[in-house]
Amino acid sequence: MPPQESNATPPVVEIREMDFAYGDKIALHQIQLAVEKHRVTALIGPSGCGKSTLLRCINRMNDRVPSARIARGAVLVKGKNIHDPDVDLTQLRKQVGMVFQKSNPFPKTIYENVAYGLRVHGEKDGQILDAAVEHALRQAALWDELKDRLNDHALGLSGGQQQRLCIARAIATHPDVLLMDEPCSALDPIATLKIEELIHQLAHDYTVIIVTHNMQQAVRVSHYTAFLHLGKLIEFGETEHMFNKPREKLTESYLRGTFS
Ligand SMILES: Nc1ncnc2c1ncn2[C@@H]1O[C@H](COP(=O)(O)OP(=O)(O)OP(=O)(O)O)[C@@H](O)[C@H]1O
Ligand SMILES: [Mg+2]
Repeated sequence: MPPQESNATPPVVEIREMDFAYGDKIALHQIQLAVEKHRVTALIGPSGCGKSTLLRCINRMNDRVPSARIARGAVLVKGKNIHDPDVDLTQLRKQVGMVFQKSNPFPKTIYENVAYGLRVHGEKDGQILDAAVEHALRQAALWDELKDRLNDHALGLSGGQQQRLCIARAIATHPDVLLMDEPCSALDPIATLKIEELIHQLAHDYTVIIVTHNMQQAVRVSHYTAFLHLGKLIEFGETEHMFNKPREKLTESYLRGTFS
């Protein structure tokens, strides 16, 4: 895979020759992907091609589906196979945070939403929690908007604010990787723009993998793009290059909207 071989930084996420199945149906075939540190990687492709499945492989979210399994290959995060018996799932989910399509704040205060992950990991010191909540809200570009409303109920926020709150909640525990599955699909253009700006900023500190159906969004936010089709990784490369000069005919027809 071209851009990665020449890169000196080891991949944060590496998917090696992975087949993934729901029951006896293979949903992902021979996926080989290395995700570069502090870069945004977009996963694109038609509905049902396996984007969400691939994303959920990275923090073992698919474990919740009884029939789901890796049939072949491995997923490594910072060089560690995430299916090794000594991997602690809570720790993995801390290391690999996730933001979903539909914002899902807990029915708690704004403060408690952001503090949640830290509390789960045993943090009780009020000053440390206060500082961490402020830091995460600042990183999510919400602090100025919400600093006087920390004890308000999170469900009273707008959709865009709720989604940024979910991002703040995900980054409060300092994950290495942030997975985002169509994080803007329920938002209006202004809220979408805010999240896109935020993703840019987050890439300074985090490795972001984002699923999007919006081609322009992939161009705006990502450094690398992976194009999937029918469970196969058809093409992977620098976003600018892929959108200007795709290597594969299938990628080209998808990007041009002439896909049949
Ligand atoms: N829980 C599940 N059980 C069985 N099959 C599933 C499950 N989730 C997804 N699949 C199947 O796996 C394939 C990939 O689905 P996935 O949701 O990963 O696609 P996607 O690219 O995210 O699609 P979309 O763009 O519509 O969100 C599809 O054929 C889908 O039917
Ligand atoms: Mg999906």
